[in-house]
Amino acid sequence: MKLARNEFCIWCFIFVLISVTSFVFSRTISSDPDPDPCESMKSIEFHRLKSDQITVLINGYSESRIPLLQSIVSSYSGSSIVSSILLLWGNPTTPSQVLDQLYQNLTQYSLGTASISLIQQPSSSLNSRFIPRPSVNTRAVLICDDDVEIDRKSLEFAFSVWKSNPDRLIGTFVRSHGFDLQGKEWIYTVYPDKYSIVLTKFMLMKQDYLYEYSCNVGVEMVEMRKIVDETRNCEDILMNFVVADKVRAGPIMVGAERVRDWGDARNEEEGGDGESGVREVGLSSRRVEHRKRRGKCIKEFHRVMGKMPLLYSYGKVVNSVGEQGLCRKAGKLVFCDRD
Ligand SMILES: *[C@@H]1O[C@H](CO)[C@@H](O)[C@H](O)[C@H]1NC(C)=O
Repeated sequence: MKLARNEFCIWCFIFVLISVTSFVFSRTISSDPDPDPCESMKSIEFHRLKSDQITVLINGYSESRIPLLQSIVSSYSGSSIVSSILLLWGNPTTPSQVLDQLYQNLTQYSLGTASISLIQQPSSSLNSRFIPRPSVNTRAVLICDDDVEIDRKSLEFAFSVWKSNPDRLIGTFVRSHGFDLQGKEWIYTVYPDKYSIVLTKFMLMKQDYLYEYSCNVGVEMVEMRKIVDETRNCEDILMNFVVADKVRAGPIMVGAERVRDWGDARNEEEGGDGESGVREVGLSSRRVEHRKRRGKCIKEFHRVMGKMPLLYSYGKVVNSVGEQGLCRKAGKLVFCDRD
């Protein structure tokens, strides 16, 4: 009798344990519960979503970057303009215990009121970072990588710039498309005075574009998303194509006061020079390779679309306007960069 009771209690205990862990687990790591987000989002009226806050979508992949993620998430969560933070984990081989631990750490050490979730992506496709999500209840979304931390004031400034330009792509790290007259082909490059591409290191935009990118089933868009999957690169460039084609305007670059950029592994040698000018001299061969691959994407997207929608923008919008003079660049008056 006594034994039986003990046995019962052991089962009892195991039952409770299982319920508790599955409860905790289901609350922490969701593996994208929505099988058809485009269908669920079809009737969403984006313009009715709240526009006084943003949702941050951080792409995470590398386990070695987890300590940085901790710092990035707690920094964003401390801002009152952040409604929620979604960490989109794109590496399917990461053990679930690690993610569970990560989630615990993130929620434990984060200061603010922003809600935090960790989502295990269904695949490692780079397209899935742009999947629209019914849980995102803000008009604006900030797309960022796990390697860049921007100070809160600059984040809030970028958001104020977005509010007055809600159709544009807003970013801090920029690049350009160009046309190589000798090779007669499109290239990926950096110009000192103009830009046409915002990187996903920090990209602020209205959520509508996630839907445009992911849910457009036209043959062109399907083919271009396939190019992203095949090259395992260039989803950021494609987003720039999508938005520029839609609004017929280039992106807006905003200055940031403090940026910590640890460099994206995918961008190879690109990290660390966020806003600097042309450094063609002494480009490492890896960097040359990287630019070639990105140039090939531009060429391919241009071929599929049958046109070049990317447009140049000039100058940079900065917070401390008082210190800034106006410069004439390419016939336009813009705020001069301090450096
Ligand atoms: C969680 O935090 C603990 C204590 O700081 C640390 O030892 C551990 O590596 C962290 N784990 C993850 C996955 O973030």
